[in-house]
Amino acid sequence: MTKTSVDDGENQPVTNDYDLSTPIPTENASGMRQGLPSYGDAHFSLFLRKVFIKALGYSEDALSRPIIGIVNTYSSFNPCHSNIPQLIEAVKRGVQLNGGLAIDFPTISIHESFSTPTSMYLRNLMSMDTEEMIRAQPCDAVVLIGGCDKTTPAQLMGGISANKPILHLVTGPMMPGSHKGTRIGACTDCRNNWAAYRAGAIDIEDISAINNELAPTGGTCGVMGTASTMACILVALGMMPFNGATAPAVSSSRLRIAEETGKIAISLYNRKSKPQGLLTRESFLNAITVLQAIGGSTNAIVHLMAIINRHPAVAGTITLDDFDRIGRQTPLLIDLKPSGQNYMTDFHNSGGMLALLHELKPLLHLDAETVMGGTLGEEIAKATFIPVPRDSPTNCVHAFDDPLYTRSSLVVMRGNLAPGGAIMKASASKYRHLLKHSGPAVVFTNPADLAARIDDPALEVTANSVLVLQNIGPIGNPGMPEAGVIPIPRKLASQGVQDMLRISDGRMSGTAGGTIVLHVSPEAANPESVFGVIRDGDTVTVDVEDRVIRVELSEEVIEQRLSVRQDDMARRERERPGQAAWHARKRIRGYRGLYMRSVQQAEGGADFDFLTASGPS
Ligand code: FES
Repeated sequence: MTKTSVDDGENQPVTNDYDLSTPIPTENASGMRQGLPSYGDAHFSLFLRKVFIKALGYSEDALSRPIIGIVNTYSSFNPCHSNIPQLIEAVKRGVQLNGGLAIDFPTISIHESFSTPTSMYLRNLMSMDTEEMIRAQPCDAVVLIGGCDKTTPAQLMGGISANKPILHLVTGPMMPGSHKGTRIGACTDCRNNWAAYRAGAIDIEDISAINNELAPTGGTCGVMGTASTMACILVALGMMPFNGATAPAVSSSRLRIAEETGKIAISLYNRKSKPQGLLTRESFLNAITVLQAIGGSTNAIVHLMAIINRHPAVAGTITLDDFDRIGRQTPLLIDLKPSGQNYMTDFHNSGGMLALLHELKPLLHLDAETVMGGTLGEEIAKATFIPVPRDSPTNCVHAFDDPLYTRSSLVVMRGNLAPGGAIMKASASKYRHLLKHSGPAVVFTNPADLAARIDDPALEVTANSVLVLQNIGPIGNPGMPEAGVIPIPRKLASQGVQDMLRISDGRMSGTAGGTIVLHVSPEAANPESVFGVIRDGDTVTVDVEDRVIRVELSEEVIEQRLSVRQDDMARRERERPGQAAWHARKRIRGYRGLYMRSVQQAEGGADFDFLTASGPS
């Protein structure tokens, strides 16, 4: 369409943005004046920026407002984010009712089932995308809309590094479905029912019908998986309003929370509150307390370590030992799958995070700041709270003195098998006697080996065996897949065995349960790894109470095996380069090569070394 000149300039005041006698500040600029592209003439850069933004119809009045960026992670490959278009509209309403200009922009989106090789492989890429797009664009504050497991940690990692005012809005949990009168939901029941199908306990008609009901609405997995865990942690960190973690994705509450988030973004801008100032060591200790009290996902330990290590003033002050120490004094209070029986909608209807924080007050640092403006203690006191009666059958928040599990939902173990640490969600163990167990190892050297032999009727395995899966660590299998839930061999499953002690250097889904040791460090791919040299028949001991994981071998035998393995890896590298991931990573192109050369071990957060606060400045 050819535009006439009749309305050009009509009702548009002459702006002093182009007044050449008034310098445009290069530091602490706001609105459209910040972060101008470099043309060697700041006034021209601003003039050009406004030429283009006006193509979208903005007036000078709109462009003079504080700009609130909204990170849009909608993707048709991400059903956990299906409500993002509605959420963006509601956030915009909140921003614009309070005097700001809201502008959404995309970053990559990651869904668990549509990310090869794993979503974790892409988490650091998403964090870099988020950081750089926040930094590059003229935003005075940013609302980070995420939800699916790796998205919220990626956004917080990037947001802390970019250090502009940020706050979070999650998409919210999905509703549970139903099969034969029993409630079911992604994804604990995905795994339970699949295991039952493998064991022959349910037939193909049932498993097909169940497939239709496990995710009956959009939103994140409806149990205390990684997405829900991270949402609760964002509240504990003070980065999201209290009801933001649990309101269902499809509820009107979720939209009102989005509108409120837009309003808070404006006040966050007015307070110039940036994450490196708002978040303190105490904020993260609160997050760890909540993680233990909800029996949260083991993945959250990796994510929290990555987030902590992005923060210049907190990095290095919190280690895995703090997770264990806090766990010893924190009871499990939320009865949700996989540690308990209920779904996120039940948690929401029981009062959600506000109910939990009231119970946890004795353990929390109540003077930690929040995006709402007050401290955590002030905001808890201020928020309207109508408790659900204790004896209500729908209340899934336990009283502090009546916990579901007395302490240490998540434990950290060490020993000759894992000097860098290994973790377990002890509260999700099905057979408690396995929490102190010694047994002969049945070792699988990688996922392909596991797939080829786990159901072999000739496999020498009993319920007393310890299933070991090597080479699924950050470098050995880039992305550290959630393959730590080693399936029970079919011949044992069909006899009714539902749990065995299982150990790997990989991860497991937050929705999974069992007596499962994860994140063994250093990972098997490392030539120095003792975990990399255990063999079939070695006696492996795990003692959760004493926090020990070890292989019953002498120092001499271990040293000898390590020496032989290192010589073998070096020889294979000479003869057929690229056979061992540890050596091959130096020659791999693109993002995969960057990942393998730069990723840290799980206890460091599996972040890239060059992105951490202690990395290059
Ligand atoms: Fe997205 Fe579970 S797959 S939250």
